Amino acid sequence: MIKINENYLKLEASYLFADIAKRVAAFQRAHPGRQVIKLGIGDVTRPLPAACIQAFHTAIDEMARAETFRGYGPEQGYEFLREKIAQHDFQARGANIAADEIFVSDGAKCDNGNIQEVFATDITVAIPDPVYPVYLDTNVMAGRTGAFVDGRYQGVVYMDGTRKNGFVPALPEAEVGLIYLCFPNNPTGATIGKAQLKQWVDFARARKAIILYDAAYEIFIRDPDLPHSIYEIEGAAEVAVEFRSFSKMAGFTGTRCAYSVVPKACTAYTAAGEPQPVHALWHRRHTTKFNGVSYPVQRAAAAVYSSEGLAQCRELSDYYLRNAKLIRNELSDLGYACIGGDNSPYIWVDCRMDSWKFFDLLLEKANVVCTPGVGFGRCGAGYVRISAFNDHEKVQLAMERIRNVLRAA
Ligand code: MLT
Repeated sequence: MIKINENYLKLEASYLFADIAKRVAAFQRAHPGRQVIKLGIGDVTRPLPAACIQAFHTAIDEMARAETFRGYGPEQGYEFLREKIAQHDFQARGANIAADEIFVSDGAKCDNGNIQEVFATDITVAIPDPVYPVYLDTNVMAGRTGAFVDGRYQGVVYMDGTRKNGFVPALPEAEVGLIYLCFPNNPTGATIGKAQLKQWVDFARARKAIILYDAAYEIFIRDPDLPHSIYEIEGAAEVAVEFRSFSKMAGFTGTRCAYSVVPKACTAYTAAGEPQPVHALWHRRHTTKFNGVSYPVQRAAAAVYSSEGLAQCRELSDYYLRNAKLIRNELSDLGYACIGGDNSPYIWVDCRMDSWKFFDLLLEKANVVCTPGVGFGRCGAGYVRISAFNDHEKVQLAMERIRNVLRAA
């Protein structure tokens, strides 16, 4: 008799965004005449930057000729892309990251979900609440948690994000092995300064823990004092793995390209306390289970770092930030406390009621989709997340509808 991984039975029946999509589809079936505006899942709507499109076309043409055709590439990514990433995203900011510490992949979601596989099952994981559900769910799947009781998995160290701490949780008091951090934050849009981030790095070094730092929304940072990478903090390379994505940076949600940074200095330990480089473990995993991102996609990603590509990506992120500002201003004017939206495409709104009720109100009366905060964890109850990823005209229309509904409510 074949047996299942029973850890899966501890999970909620469906992934948050799949659940929302199902509800929205049911609403659309019931009201086929209504034009629903989606500000729920953070999916981009604008076309790829012209520099990326051009590089894509050129690479496809190379694949069409025998002399320039390419089969399997290096699993970790082509040198031409890894070099550019290391130089532009890290070395230019004073972070000493080398090209061979970059692992190109098909998504930060996959990397975030896969990385925990190289750590022991019996470690304790510290996870913020509210949180991007992937961090938590993949640890549940791996058997690092107990049952789901009262909105929380037993055995997880939850780090509460509240209005009081500006949704930047305090350092955990418990003994923890893996710590998940995400800045600019998904879902709250909160950011972290260098001094505060240094406290986390120092904490991880003192405890021999590892920080999994998700910086997928780095492109939206405008405040010059905010760190773009955890490696801007001294000593972070010993204790941190960082995740980045071209999804939000260059509109690659449907194109798929991301990367993780695993510095050679980053160290974890055997049960006997022997130090082991995480780089070697991740390298082994990546080269065994992954066959690389396609050549044209990597060429398109490399074009992000050309002078035109950089300018076009900046323009793209400015476009979504303009939406974010509009959303935040409108909701604030209506008297709702908001955070995020200035260095982030997400606006976290205190909706002053049950977050699913607010979700239903917006869907049914304004025909606008948001994401209920409680879907990101217990501390998200009473909040919703509104995403700035949509066309500006649609965001304007959504805000007009929301204004009418909330004024009348
Ligand atoms: C989100 O809406 O939280 C993101 O789009 C999810 C993701 O990037 O996987």
